[in-house]
Amino acid sequence: MKPWDKIITLPSADSTNSYAAQLLQSENIEEGTIVYIYDQKAGRGLGQNTWESEKGKNLTFSIILLPHFLSIQHHYMLSKVISLGLFEYASAKLADIKIKWPNDIYYKDKKLAGILIENSIKGSMINYSVAGIGLNLNQEQFFSNAPNPVSLKQITGKNYSIEDELVSVRHHIKKYYQKLQSGHMNEINRKYIESLYRFNNFYMFRWNNRIFRAKITGVNEYGHLQILTSENETKEFEFKEIEFLI
Ligand code: BTN
Repeated sequence: MKPWDKIITLPSADSTNSYAAQLLQSENIEEGTIVYIYDQKAGRGLGQNTWESEKGKNLTFSIILLPHFLSIQHHYMLSKVISLGLFEYASAKLADIKIKWPNDIYYKDKKLAGILIENSIKGSMINYSVAGIGLNLNQEQFFSNAPNPVSLKQITGKNYSIEDELVSVRHHIKKYYQKLQSGHMNEINRKYIESLYRFNNFYMFRWNNRIFRAKITGVNEYGHLQILTSENETKEFEFKEIEFLI
């Protein structure tokens, strides 16, 4: 099999990220191999979150990447290219798609997809990465306490084929990953910033129980969010330090 060709489909298991990480322990895997689970029983989200997905309704998959060229310091570039791939995929169907920092895909003020990237490190470089993606396709009702989920079906009224959409998303992610492999950092950084949700306009945020108005001005090379407050202070935040008030 060539890179970016293989899709491993499982009827039911806990988490595509966990399954892919186990596979990497036991086998030589081609880059771009996908693990897709029809009925993901224990999908994991960022931090302590879980990921809700009704069986057979959504894309719940992981892509195995071998970015040996990337230092761990620059792991955030992976978030950017996966987000951009998903952004481009969804933008081909809908207007009003944005990337909400650090790597959620939003339609208007609702979350269409989430990304969980887990890296294994060798020295100061990345040995392998498992990029887990949950993209809501056909689910019509959400039951967990996830704040604002939405599916493509809820937006367009159409049903989507899991197989076709998986191949299409893979195409867009591969395109941006290959830009990273060939060193097109400036283009990736520019497109990522251009696609950011709530970029360069004032909105409300919460940090340390304080609510304030600020605008996003950028994201630094380590993936920290840069903002300018309405009181003219500049600040940088790591993931989970700052909350968007939506
Ligand atoms: C987030 O919290 O926004 C990230 C959600 C990532 C969910 C996906 S579903 C497929 C893959 N396997 C997991 O266990 N999680 C990711």
